[in-house]
Amino acid sequence: MKKILFHQFGNASQLSLEEVSVPIPASDELLIRVKAASCNPVDRGILSGNFPGLDPEFPKGMGLDFAGTVEGSGSQVSKFQLGDEVYGWMGYGSSGSFSEYVVAPQAQVFMKPSYLSFEEAACLPLVGATAYNALILRGKLKQGQSVFIHGCTGGVGQLAVQIAKHFGAYVIGTCSLRTQDLARIIGADEVYEYRKLDLKPFAKRADIALVTGGKLDFEDILPILKSKGVFTDIRPKNHVHPQYRQVITAPVTQEMLNAVNKIAHESQLKLIIGERVSLQQAIPTLIKLEQGKRASGKTVLVM
Ligand SMILES: NC(=O)c1ccc[n+]([C@@H]2O[C@H](COP(=O)([O-])OP(=O)(O)OC[C@H]3O[C@@H](n4cnc5c(N)ncnc54)[C@H](OP(=O)(O)O)[C@@H]3O)[C@@H](O)[C@H]2O)c1
Repeated sequence: MKKILFHQFGNASQLSLEEVSVPIPASDELLIRVKAASCNPVDRGILSGNFPGLDPEFPKGMGLDFAGTVEGSGSQVSKFQLGDEVYGWMGYGSSGSFSEYVVAPQAQVFMKPSYLSFEEAACLPLVGATAYNALILRGKLKQGQSVFIHGCTGGVGQLAVQIAKHFGAYVIGTCSLRTQDLARIIGADEVYEYRKLDLKPFAKRADIALVTGGKLDFEDILPILKSKGVFTDIRPKNHVHPQYRQVITAPVTQEMLNAVNKIAHESQLKLIIGERVSLQQAIPTLIKLEQGKRASGKTVLVM
């Protein structure tokens, strides 16, 4: 089978598409024929070695989220059958979903909601878990509250809008001009362009403010929060101000994955895909993403 690998930490120009053996599932694992895998900014952190807890073993695979069909299973697997259409999450220590096959523990694999394509389902786990963590676990979102989402059409932002709506919140979103229509389609109640943003009209309006991109700092956000409002920030650590209280650095737990899967089965989530590329064409696209040239929406590799 074909798989994208790297043999040392570095950048995307060091990636190669190689022929390797199909992996064998351990007793609690599934073997999945991957139909789609989504790209996340953290893939680049792992490739660069700038991510906590990575083991020193090489070669390593790239990619965390996937969707596909069950092709085999270990002896302890009870929840799935051959041919099931599933999606899931590899875990940071694993060997990468930019591959024709993966093995993953059954706890990290979920039945694909039938209304989602493989490509859409492959976009869900990491960004869904992060948005759920930010709004529900950290933000303690309650029905009827107002949520301000800065960067509401990126990977995490688009799930944050929809999770907030699922829990009955009012959503004020910011994004670039090119994605304003998408922001409304996924349910944002008010949409503003972030480059022309004047925060004064939002004074004391937000119960939760979630920042996914750009440069807004704690002092910028504070005036828009209600008195007991919560600020959640998912940007990498170099943007962190010491006063932040809800900086999210440990993104994915089983609780989050389960919760996002439940929401995906109860709601009709819309996943915005900006770009689809084949596994064969993936490396030039990964190099482009590393240079900051991203489409509006998720980039998905299609196998
Ligand atoms: N801590 C965690 O657990 C965790 C988990 C996942 C991701 N992250 C981090 O969170 C960030 C977002 O992840 P993602 O997957 O959502 O990335 P993404 O899909 O690339 O989205 C980036 C978002 O930032 C917006 N943006 C870009 N420039 C902006 C500006 N000047 N002002 C306001 N917004 C701006 C983009 O808006 P447009 O598309 O409209 O330009 C887009 O909504 C990344 O830095 C990632 O590393 C952290």
